[in-house]
Amino acid sequence: MSFTAIEHPTPTPADEIAKVFSDPGFGLTFTDHIAVVDWAADEGWANARIQPYGPIPLDPAASVLHYANEVFEGIKAYRHPDGGIYTFRPQKNAARLNASARRMSLPELDEQVFVSSIEELVRKDHAWVPAGEGKALYLRPYMFATEAFLGVRKPREVTFRVIASPVGGVFGKTFAPVKIWVSRDYARAALGGTGAAKTGGNYAGAMAASSAAAAHGCQQVLFLDQAGEAVEELGAMNIFLVMKDGTLLTPQLTGTILDGITRASLIQLAEDSGLAVEERRITLDEWAHGAANGTITEAFACGTAAVVAPIGELVDGDQTITMTGDFSITRALKNELVGIQSGSVEDRHGWLHRLV
Ligand code: PLP
Ligand code: COI
Repeated sequence: MSFTAIEHPTPTPADEIAKVFSDPGFGLTFTDHIAVVDWAADEGWANARIQPYGPIPLDPAASVLHYANEVFEGIKAYRHPDGGIYTFRPQKNAARLNASARRMSLPELDEQVFVSSIEELVRKDHAWVPAGEGKALYLRPYMFATEAFLGVRKPREVTFRVIASPVGGVFGKTFAPVKIWVSRDYARAALGGTGAAKTGGNYAGAMAASSAAAAHGCQQVLFLDQAGEAVEELGAMNIFLVMKDGTLLTPQLTGTILDGITRASLIQLAEDSGLAVEERRITLDEWAHGAANGTITEAFACGTAAVVAPIGELVDGDQTITMTGDFSITRALKNELVGIQSGSVEDRHGWLHRLV
């Protein structure tokens, strides 16, 4: 499938883009273009195009506005010292978008069309990819039901789009440990639910817990399993614990948490460097006891947007677990991953995909 292109009539001047690059924040400014592919039950995917960024005309009865049939992805493009622009494991995001789409009764998109949409958008808006530590162009592919119909069934009209936003670090530039709040009042997912799908409703449902976390001085929320015993994931990140002997622990994928690409990549890098990784059930009790007796020394959260964030404290009501390690393993894993993504460490697994 080839993409047609309509140029933006008044693209953003270079000095304005430079101003954005000086302090991009996260998800605040968008590039000049958007990639679009539309789907109809009778025709399949068609009309692939790059067009100027702008509002979407949408029927007030569009299914997504009523039933939230939406899925999305998060992936970055990095400017390398050699001048090239690369993205990281895009086929993984393409496959995960399709897994989310199957769960949410949306059509699957050819993985090659997903990758092409990113290639075409980044080639058009390459001037928007920042250079520098921690900076990247964050790409947000998403798909939703546009059909004007209030019946509750699989939609017959859908659109897929990719927007792009220059970003810096989610938690700022530093490696400062973050404080996490344990959500006791709100659950994120249940067995058989939509927790493993990257769908908007999971994030809307988690916002009440994020507000509670912020009210208690915490930057993120940790969700537990249905029994309120085992650790699952944060609102938008997976979680790891590090034991004194270097073993990594992370919750196994049981269908309630997102199969993170950062998670999978860190497991591979840890194993490459000789560390053992256990994907299994981890209870809060195990974490609290391990932190108290010195067998669990580090904890960190990971995801595309925030990369790797050390967890300094976990606040569970009036109990606080404090991590006492030096975060040396967390830091080493982060440096290796960021090094591969930014072009300073050899990409021995072939994870990078050149865009420009
Ligand atoms: N868990 C949730 C709920 C997320 O939203 C994300 C972010 O994408 C992750 C985990 C981390 O996934 P990835 O590493 O693929 O970005
Ligand atoms: C990502 O890490 O890409 C995410 O999707 C996080 C986002 C929900 C802010």
